[in-house]
Amino acid sequence: MRIVRAHDYDDMSRKAANIISAQVTLKPDSVLGLATGSTPLGIYAQLIEWYEKGDLDFSQVSTFNLDEYRGLAHDDPQSYHHFMRANFFDRINIDPANTHVPDGSNLDAEGVCAAYDRSVADAGYPDLQLLGIGRNGHVGFNEPGAVFSKGTYCVDLTPSTIEANSRLFDRVEDVPRQAYTMGVQTIMFARSVLVVASGEEKADAVRAMCLGPVDPQCPASILQLHAACTVIADEAALCKMPA
Ligand code: GLP
Repeated sequence: MRIVRAHDYDDMSRKAANIISAQVTLKPDSVLGLATGSTPLGIYAQLIEWYEKGDLDFSQVSTFNLDEYRGLAHDDPQSYHHFMRANFFDRINIDPANTHVPDGSNLDAEGVCAAYDRSVADAGYPDLQLLGIGRNGHVGFNEPGAVFSKGTYCVDLTPSTIEANSRLFDRVEDVPRQAYTMGVQTIMFARSVLVVASGEEKADAVRAMCLGPVDPQCPASILQLHAACTVIADEAALCKMPA
């Protein structure tokens, strides 16, 4: 695991965008694993800016998002389908047919998860997987206690995740209680992983991910065993790490 120190959120975003940009430049038909949440927003904004300047071309790229709330229509403003279109896909030249997000509108959990696993496998798994990290060490929606050997599955969200994500909903009761998420096994199949973290509320999770035992109680800790994992975190998120 390689740890890159960023001064602040903007610096973290630029550094991470540089890595994604290099990936797409070197391999124009890259498969990118993408994440939602507030943390990657600055990365997407930077990539859009470089696309608009003519420095990046996404026409051959395909993407697989980590997760989606179960029970939300694709055009629901809280859905990750909507988030990805609004914050990235609609603003670059990616072919919408090459973008994949688990189908939260379909309640057939087994069918949705099996189909998603098949399409990620058919694409050959991500060349680069972007990840945020939850305050409790979750990745995607793999909550503490997650089984490391799973592909995509339907998960019951923990009260801490529901509370953390409720900031984006009108009321905490509106946050879906379940989600479809790529499992840890699928994430580990990516050829490289890029984790981004910003802010002091992530400091405990970052420390557990990097220095704690590899333990399902901190799902991100499995990344210590990935052959090509880079963590880019700002000073606040690294405040509990040794200098
Ligand atoms: C959500 C997402 C995760 C994300 C996490 C942290 O629960 N499913 O993929 O990493 O939140 O989000 P944020 O970046 O907003 O702190």
